[in-house]
Amino acid sequence: MNKRQARYFAIGSTLVATLIFLGLTVDSHRQFPKLTNAQNITPAVTLGKDVWHKNNCINCHTLFGEGAYYAPDLTKIAQQRGAPYLRAFLKDPSKFYDEQRHRRLMPRQDLSDADIDGLIAFLDWVSRVDNQDWPPRPITVTGSGTGAGKPTLEAAVAGTSTPAAGSTADASAKDPVALGERVFRTAAPACTACHSLTAGADMAGPSLAGIATRAQQTLASPGYKGSATDLEAFIRESITQPSAHLVEGTMYSADGVSFMPNTYDKDLTPEQVNHLAAYLATFK
Ligand code: HEC
Ligand code: HEC
Repeated sequence: MNKRQARYFAIGSTLVATLIFLGLTVDSHRQFPKLTNAQNITPAVTLGKDVWHKNNCINCHTLFGEGAYYAPDLTKIAQQRGAPYLRAFLKDPSKFYDEQRHRRLMPRQDLSDADIDGLIAFLDWVSRVDNQDWPPRPITVTGSGTGAGKPTLEAAVAGTSTPAAGSTADASAKDPVALGERVFRTAAPACTACHSLTAGADMAGPSLAGIATRAQQTLASPGYKGSATDLEAFIRESITQPSAHLVEGTMYSADGVSFMPNTYDKDLTPEQVNHLAAYLATFK
């Protein structure tokens, strides 16, 4: 290559690289409306975004992994928790977490009902932005508080706790317990977003460690309000009609309505619900 050829080569390759760069930039911008569901940005979403900024939620929380790391990432929180839970939580976080057990608190934000509705609409919109499946698992803070009086920063990735007796079996092998274990992790929203399988580690829902034994006691107690007569029926009922019988505690329900999503009845097949019941029945 002589000097002149080298110059043409340099100019030519710079041009090609520039064109590729511009093309990809234009292509990214073309995809934004679809990835962000731009058509779903309603006035409520915009209002919620303003409330989010006004209250500096980002000083403690992250969205899309960006922000402060004091409190859980909220990118998928609307899908993981559902509106009834979020409404009650945002009204009064102290009903849900106590300083003794969780070591870290969300201060009350004194939000109006309209602000809360806006925030829920905003967080719902955020949860539907196409992040190409990030985060791969819910990032929740159990806040079980091992730090000596100080807020602990460790974010526990839900769903990594004790596997059930039969869960080592191959899920493709039609073992209902193994199949149930899989549904437990993959249902939308995932059961693991709210339930741990470790005794005492209550998250947005009660720990399901020992659920089989507890369910038998509930069934036998005079306070039981549902219509199940055996263990697996009780678990099925808990999943498909969460409000049929309520676990006590202000962080689990309000006005007789469970904060557990009531969408599994239509989103899971009866077979999947049976598998979940078989799986959870192994936690004695
Ligand atoms: C001073 C820090 C702080 C601020 C400001 C703050 N939060 Fe929080 N928030 C927390 C902490 C800490 C938790 C977790 C409590 C725990 O796990 O013990 C939390 C939890 C939450 C949860 C529940 C998460 C779950 O797993 O159920 C939601 C929803 C939430 N915050 C929304 C908001 C919104 C919306 C704002 C702004 C209006 C906000 N937060 C402002 C600290 C804060
Ligand atoms: C948004 C949080 C949330 C999600 C997600 C969730 N639950 Fe729950 N769950 C709760 C709450 C809160 C309660 C307690 C209130 C009640 O009795 O409904 C509960 C109660 C239960 C109970 C009854 C526990 C008892 O001691 O009687 C079972 C069983 C259960 N859930 C199973 C599941 C399964 C299986 C899934 C996934 C298909 C699931 N949950 C998803 C929040 C959740």
